Amino acid sequence: MSAVQLALFAAPPLRGWPRLQAFLVDRIKRAALRQLHASRAGELLLLRIYLIGEEATEQTLQQEMLANPPAWLERQVQQHLREEQEHSALFAAAMRERGMQPPSELRPDRLSQAKIRRWQRIARRHAPHFQQGLLVPAYAIGLCAEQMAERVLSRHCAVLPAEHPLQGLLGRVLSDERKHVRLCMRTLGLSVAEHEQPRLQQLLAEARAVDRAWGVSGAVGMYLAGVALRLRAGGWRRSN
Ligand SMILES: [Fe+2]
Ligand SMILES: [Fe+2]
Repeated sequence: MSAVQLALFAAPPLRGWPRLQAFLVDRIKRAALRQLHASRAGELLLLRIYLIGEEATEQTLQQEMLANPPAWLERQVQQHLREEQEHSALFAAAMRERGMQPPSELRPDRLSQAKIRRWQRIARRHAPHFQQGLLVPAYAIGLCAEQMAERVLSRHCAVLPAEHPLQGLLGRVLSDERKHVRLCMRTLGLSVAEHEQPRLQQLLAEARAVDRAWGVSGAVGMYLAGVALRLRAGGWRRSN
């Protein structure tokens, strides 16, 4: 992938309020992670959030990308799906190791559901403007979701001590999500005609704005949940 294409698809540098917002979200989420890791219930909540995210990605792949993929993409989509299923299995196993059976049906929280609905509306609105139809918005939104996963997991790995038992799992998923970011970029580069680029940039900007909405309140909610679970556990500290 050329440097020009990379620059087209990388998240652009933020300015003004969005930049301050991203800074605040990062700081609050770092503090939230420390709180959540201070109790077993908090750690389980984090694993559950990741599991829900992975299952939502699987569903999107199955419903929107696997539903009718062009022949040249079929193998790639199948491989992508296998890797997301592996991630779900790894998070579910980590929950079991910590004494919790993952619920058979997991639904994203209301905030995430609202985000997914807004992403779907954006995809439907832009799809008719691309030769490849819904495939382009599906991969553009997929790119934003994979970039978000990369950001979230990088932060988590940076906050945890190097010897923490979850480092291996998070590091492995992170390296796959980085691969998925490149895969979405490559697929967009192959499916979008030159004259469709401005429309793609508009679509990416809208999808990223949805990702940023509720950022601070979501981070504060995560922090408060971490504090509440730590207090309820009476300062439980992990001993392994
Ligand atoms: Fe994943
Ligand atoms: Fe992924």
